[in-house]
Amino acid sequence: MADEPLVLGIETSCDETGVGIVRGHTLLADAVASSVEEHARFGGVVPEVASRAHLEAMVPTIRRALKDAGVAASDLDGIAVTAGPGLAGALLVGVSAAKAYAYALGKPLYGVNHLASHICVDQLEHGALPEPTMALLVSGGHSSLLLTTDITSDVRPLGSTIDDAAGEAFDKVARVLGLGFPGGPAVDRYARDGDPKAIRFPRGLTGPRDPVYDFSFSGLKTAVARWVEERRREGADVPIADVAASFQEAVTDVLTRKAIRACKDHGVEHLMIGGGVAANSRLRAMAQRRCADAGIELRVPRPKLCTDNGAMVAALGAEMVARGRSASDWDLPADSSLPVTEPHVPGRTPATAPGHHH
Ligand code: KG4
Ligand code: ZN
Repeated sequence: MADEPLVLGIETSCDETGVGIVRGHTLLADAVASSVEEHARFGGVVPEVASRAHLEAMVPTIRRALKDAGVAASDLDGIAVTAGPGLAGALLVGVSAAKAYAYALGKPLYGVNHLASHICVDQLEHGALPEPTMALLVSGGHSSLLLTTDITSDVRPLGSTIDDAAGEAFDKVARVLGLGFPGGPAVDRYARDGDPKAIRFPRGLTGPRDPVYDFSFSGLKTAVARWVEERRREGADVPIADVAASFQEAVTDVLTRKAIRACKDHGVEHLMIGGGVAANSRLRAMAQRRCADAGIELRVPRPKLCTDNGAMVAALGAEMVARGRSASDWDLPADSSLPVTEPHVPGRTPATAPGHHH
C-alpha cells in the first residue's frame, strides 16, 4: 500500500552500522557495515573502535540504503534510530546522525528501543505481529522472555539471565575451543558434525525451586571450560564438534523449554525468537519441533534479520508512525541502559501527526 509509512532506521548499538528502509511491513533495503573484524583480535567488541567505525561507515551506509531502496530521502515519513540500550559512544554516533538527517530533511525523529526492534523485525518476515506475542530475545548482551500486546507501547519482561547472556556463553565457549570471535556462528558450524548427547552439560535454573523464566549460562560455560581443561591435562584430544554440539544442546534445551512454558502459563499461542542467537540452526530446529508439539505458532526471522541491522529499527519506526506515536524531541539522548519496557522515547509534547498528509 502506497500510504504505509516509509521509514529509514539507523542502528549503531554495538559493532554493526545498520541502515534499513521499510514501507510498513515491507523491507526495501538492509545495508550493514560491520567492524567485527577489527575487534576479532581483542576477543570482544572494543567500544572506542566501534564508535570510530560507525562514524566512518555512517554516510556511505545511508547512501547505499537509499540507493538499494530506490527512494529519495525527501520521500521518507520519518527517521528512526536506536536510542538504547547499547554502548554509549556507539549509540551516540547513530543518534547524532539521525538527528542531523531528520532536521535537515524536516522529518520526525523516532528514538526506539533496540530490544523491541529485535522483536518488531519479524513483521518484515511474517507480517503483523500477533497480539499478544511471547518473545524470546537471545543476543550477545541479552537473554529475556518478553510478553508484548503492542510492540509500540507494551513490552513486559517475564524473566532474563541472571549472569551471562546466551550469545556471551557461545562466545566464551568458542574462545575455550579456540574458534575465534564472534563464537556463535563457529560453534553452530562445528556442532553440525558433533553428537549433542556426547557430554551431558548442566541445564541452569531448571530445578523445581528455581525461577521459572530466568536463565543462567555461567555455570554451563564453566562446566564446558572444566571439561576441556581436564581433557587437555590428560593429554587427550578435545573432540571439538562433540563439545560444541553438547554445549549448544544444553543452551537450546533450556531456552526452548522456558519459552514454551511461558507461552503455556500465559495462554499465548505465538512465540517469536529474535536476536543474534536466533540465527542458531539447532535452536531454530528444536523450537520448531517443540512448538509444533505444543500447538504454538513459531515465528523466527531469517538469520540476517536476527543479528543487528537497521531494518529492524526502521520496522519499529514504521509501526510508531502507523500507530500515531509521538516523535522524539531534538535533544533525544542516547541511553545505554534504556529499559526494555520503553519501546520508544516519546517527545515531551505530543507531535503533530507525522506522515505526508499535509
Ligand atoms: O543481536 P546481536 O547481533 O548483537 C547483540 O545485540 O548482542 O547478537 C550477537 C550474538 C553474538 O554473541 C554471536 O555469537 C551470537 O549472537 N550469534 C550466534 C549465531 N550467530 C550469532 N549464536 C549462536 N549461533 C549462531 N548461529
Ligand atoms: Zn542486538
